[in-house]
Amino acid sequence: MIHPFHHKHPDEPHEEGPLLRVEHIAIAFEKPVMKDASMTVRKGETVAVLGKSGTGKSVLLKLIVGLLHPDAGKIYYKDKEVTALDDLQLMSLRSEIGFLFQGAALFDSMTIGQNLDLFLVKHTDLNSEEREKKIVHALEMVQLENSIDQMPSELSGGMKKRAGLARSIVIEPEMMLYDEPTTGLDPVTSSSIAELIVTLQQRLGIASIVVTHDLPTAYTVADRAIVLNEGYVIFDGDMKDLQKSDDPFLREYLSASRLDRERHDKILAARERLHSSAPQPA
Ligand SMILES: Nc1ncnc2c1ncn2[C@@H]1O[C@H](COP(=O)(O)OP(=O)(O)OP(=O)(O)O)[C@@H](O)[C@H]1O
Ligand SMILES: [Mg+2]
Repeated sequence: MIHPFHHKHPDEPHEEGPLLRVEHIAIAFEKPVMKDASMTVRKGETVAVLGKSGTGKSVLLKLIVGLLHPDAGKIYYKDKEVTALDDLQLMSLRSEIGFLFQGAALFDSMTIGQNLDLFLVKHTDLNSEEREKKIVHALEMVQLENSIDQMPSELSGGMKKRAGLARSIVIEPEMMLYDEPTTGLDPVTSSSIAELIVTLQQRLGIASIVVTHDLPTAYTVADRAIVLNEGYVIFDGDMKDLQKSDDPFLREYLSASRLDRERHDKILAARERLHSSAPQPA
């Protein structure tokens, strides 16, 4: 399939350094959530963010798009310091970074096509013909091209997630932030969403941060994982090293997620298939 987007393939050399740098972030509400957290994301890379409930995973994503401001530390996206941008500049940043929130949050009174169109009108200067083309392409990517005129209420939970995803990618972001993309979905739908995240990375070279409780999803989509605990990044490394770690907290966290050896091996095999079968970009 010919794709409408023009991002570089992730295998091209990353000569310019990381796409995103989060440096020594601290943020407290009633209590400190982050004390000193740093991470990077390179072009085309998929990073899973793991950690117990309340450790600040959603907060981290909101900091990255400037919906929250840190008490200390800096965040850079490409050459821009996100933590120093004004509201207008943040608006424009949010048309470069796609964000799939914990709830899909489509407007119920509009069709799927109209939902995507509204997003394009807000974030671009395209005319209606150009927007229409992008809407059709984005819906094709998530296999919802036949739902363009349907209302959100007519879609299943998994389809709604995919429609939310189409809306995020219709602006052709170079980076996507996913907050619990598979939570609340059955295992089959979850794995289809996970496959879609891999497809977007492979076809469009989109870099991603995937916040998830679901380890199978993390293993399927991510190249690297970071684990947050008590305000710090306590693990930052390859997915395959996560299982090998003998850090006591990680051992407990991983065993609590009940991902046994057999299931883990199956997921890794599926991951290999998925990552090697993805079409090469034009
Ligand atoms: N806008 C806010 N105002 C006050 N407190 C907040 C705000 N946003 C987050 N918090 C607090 O910060 C902490 C981290 O929240 P966050 O939503 O990032 O957790 P999480 O790791 O995403 O959890 P979950 O896995 O349950 O989604 C929580 O204690 C939460 O109550
Ligand atoms: Mg959260």
